[in-house]
Amino acid sequence: MTVRAQRFTAGVLAALAAAALSGCGLMPSMSSVGDADFDAPLPIPPLAESRVEDGVRVFSLTAQEGEMEFIDGHPTATRGFDGDFLGPTIRAERGERVAFEIASELSDVTSVHWHGMHLPAEMDGGPHQPIEPGGTWEPTWTIDQPAATLWYHPHPHGSTEQQVYEGLAGMFLLDDERSRAAELPSAYGVDDVPVIVQDRDIDRDTGEMDHRELHGKGAEVGLLGDTVMANGAVGAFHDVTTDRVRLRLLNGSTARTYAFGFDDRDVALVASDGGLLPEPVIRERVRLSPGERAEIVVEMEPGERAMLRSFAPDLGTVAAGFAAGANDAFDVLELRAADELAPRPAPSWEYEDVGLDEADAVATRRFELSGRKINGASMNMMRIDEVVELGDTEIWELRNDDLSPHNFHVHDVQFEVLSIDGDDPPAELSGRKDTIYLEPHREYRVIMRFEDYADPEVPYMYHCHLILHEDEGLMGQFVVAEP
Ligand code: C2O
Ligand code: CU
Repeated sequence: MTVRAQRFTAGVLAALAAAALSGCGLMPSMSSVGDADFDAPLPIPPLAESRVEDGVRVFSLTAQEGEMEFIDGHPTATRGFDGDFLGPTIRAERGERVAFEIASELSDVTSVHWHGMHLPAEMDGGPHQPIEPGGTWEPTWTIDQPAATLWYHPHPHGSTEQQVYEGLAGMFLLDDERSRAAELPSAYGVDDVPVIVQDRDIDRDTGEMDHRELHGKGAEVGLLGDTVMANGAVGAFHDVTTDRVRLRLLNGSTARTYAFGFDDRDVALVASDGGLLPEPVIRERVRLSPGERAEIVVEMEPGERAMLRSFAPDLGTVAAGFAAGANDAFDVLELRAADELAPRPAPSWEYEDVGLDEADAVATRRFELSGRKINGASMNMMRIDEVVELGDTEIWELRNDDLSPHNFHVHDVQFEVLSIDGDDPPAELSGRKDTIYLEPHREYRVIMRFEDYADPEVPYMYHCHLILHEDEGLMGQFVVAEP
């Protein structure tokens, strides 16, 4: 792939130095707002090439070591798929059978998990489908879910945070009839733009970003970096040529939660993790915790510039908010509108209701997250925590028992949110989700159906997607079994 190194400009370095200084105070808060020169073109991850063999769309991916020059003259060791950093965007159509030839040139065990995908457990790419150094893995499945913005990343138990942090992540876009017919900007990389947002902590003198050393600085949530990148670029801009632009935001950070928005305009939230919402939701800020996605449509005037920022996120009632990033704000991506903009219609589409109904639920499970445990137990690869029956609709009750952030991600299925503390969820949670931020001490009830792929042997995961927590045991395993 061709994502190139983007260098720090003098302005960015000054901003970083200022952020570092302010970090010495009693209440560290990081900010890059207003300081940087945004003069690096946003790198657009290339669409992955594929070939069709016997009706199967085949992709090849290689996990490899790489190098980026984030700091002039100081190369940073990174990793990527088919390149130095991040990976190509994979795109497939509902109903299509896909297959992957994945090779690893890494020196440690990895895996490739298809986050948000409905697929057989043995194709899921979790900790039970390791790829050894020099090894290969060839999963195949049929895309069988509504159009959505998904992503892929490694999932080896205990070292997921490091591998994602070092650059192993990419987007996986699904299309279907409804998404093709939707009134939404849809020219990839032009007015339909993937934006992978990640924070990193890079040593200004050496270019190093070895996250293990940095844990000493230690936020409970994991590593909170002061350098926020969009598709691997610091200080990126994107030239906009239409009066509406769609951004597919992925929080690919390991620990940091963002509240995306602009100073002077609302955005239309059109899709969440599992695809299009029932209708556009107009918001000033869009909160995304690690692993979550949001598609937003932003309106632009000819000739203007608009900065996508992450504002200080509302994390709910957390203790020591500064240690969870609650005070931090960043400039992320500057949108630069051309003097003439081609018109794009107001967002609209036909919503697909998948018919999740509380009256159909036959089981309720409860998951309480605390420390590095779920229901008092930490992850054990040899233990199946929950057995779900094929075809069942279930309600899962989720609760963060700590006063620090957690979120909750379930493999295989997309769920809908029934209630939070007994109330209807806000409109931004009206669609399908696979990852949800859990504000401390609140009751989240979500509903899901396990309609395919019974396999009593191979488990799927559920876990906190603050990846340090996941690595340290805040994860459990379920199997889907025939009744
Ligand atoms: Cu994004 Cu279990 O992972
Ligand atoms: Cu957590």
